[in-house]
Amino acid sequence: MQEASHGERRLCARLRLDDTAADALLSAMRAGDSSCAAVVLTPLAPPEYVPPFPCEDMSAVPWLPPRVHVPQMGEGIQKPTAYEDYRRGLYYVLDLSSCWESAALGVVPPPMRSLDLCAAPGGKSMLMAARYLPQNHTANEVNAARRGILRQNLELSGMPNVTVTGLRPDQWAAAGELFDLLLVDAPCSGQSLLCKGIRNPGCLGSAMVNGNAKRQKGILLAATRCAAPGAHLLYSTCTYDPDENEKVMAYILKRVPGWEAVEVPVLTPFCSGLADFPAYRLLPHHGFGAGGFCCLLRKNN
Ligand SMILES: C[S@@+](CC[C@H](N)C(=O)[O-])C[C@H]1O[C@@H](n2cnc3c(N)ncnc32)[C@H](O)[C@@H]1O
Repeated sequence: MQEASHGERRLCARLRLDDTAADALLSAMRAGDSSCAAVVLTPLAPPEYVPPFPCEDMSAVPWLPPRVHVPQMGEGIQKPTAYEDYRRGLYYVLDLSSCWESAALGVVPPPMRSLDLCAAPGGKSMLMAARYLPQNHTANEVNAARRGILRQNLELSGMPNVTVTGLRPDQWAAAGELFDLLLVDAPCSGQSLLCKGIRNPGCLGSAMVNGNAKRQKGILLAATRCAAPGAHLLYSTCTYDPDENEKVMAYILKRVPGWEAVEVPVLTPFCSGLADFPAYRLLPHHGFGAGGFCCLLRKNN
């Protein structure tokens, strides 16, 4: 195997990977072929709807969220985006690791008011709506161009009771303790993009990781101020570095009183060894897409 770069060695050391796991991660980063397409049915698709393409049997995967299917891929098989049902908005296409990140919602009761603070292009809001139809959902995106795409995607999906906004997290914080579910799918260094074959220069370096960790802490501090008593907050990223994941969660748990991390039994096989609270990480060699991190918090008072 080609010698590891400084950034690659640094990441494997920080993740405390043994030689086998480190080789698997570096191979996946270099091959860039770990994407795994999944589709989530939108509210437009009736309960009996079946996608018009062959799907993998995922019945043995306990964490698979409801209304998520994994299309079979291979020579001669059309991509799920090639079908009329996709253009009509009956399903939305995303990486299976995004679906894995949303599995933690399985232990969250249906919310009355929910806020997706970093929502574009809409995947996490779609996954939430596949589990429980929103009562009163706000999909927020600070970036205007991305907000336009988010609006289009949500409109096409027929999601009811949703408002699209473009406030900064600190502006939301000033609005008060409104929400009983917060989704923070944070902007991050995106190290998993390498495993999808997407160039991402600098993503393994400390400058990018530290800059993102600082921004993530700011977004999360604001999010905790929007939470009603008993609220849940699902934090997720598509990057591997502990500084943007376990350490960000540890910072919030220490800094903001009254919050705890919640165990998600279906994610036990993915439990992170880098935290002394329940937190979960997916790596490409697990075979469910390019990987990511998630941690579910609950506000106790
Ligand atoms: C990982 S993406 C969200 C993906 C989305 N949740 C989905 O599942 O489709 C992170 C989003 O955070 C937005 N963002 C960037 N900086 C931000 C900030 N300071 N506060 C809130 N959101 C920010 C980005 O524009 C981007 O759309």
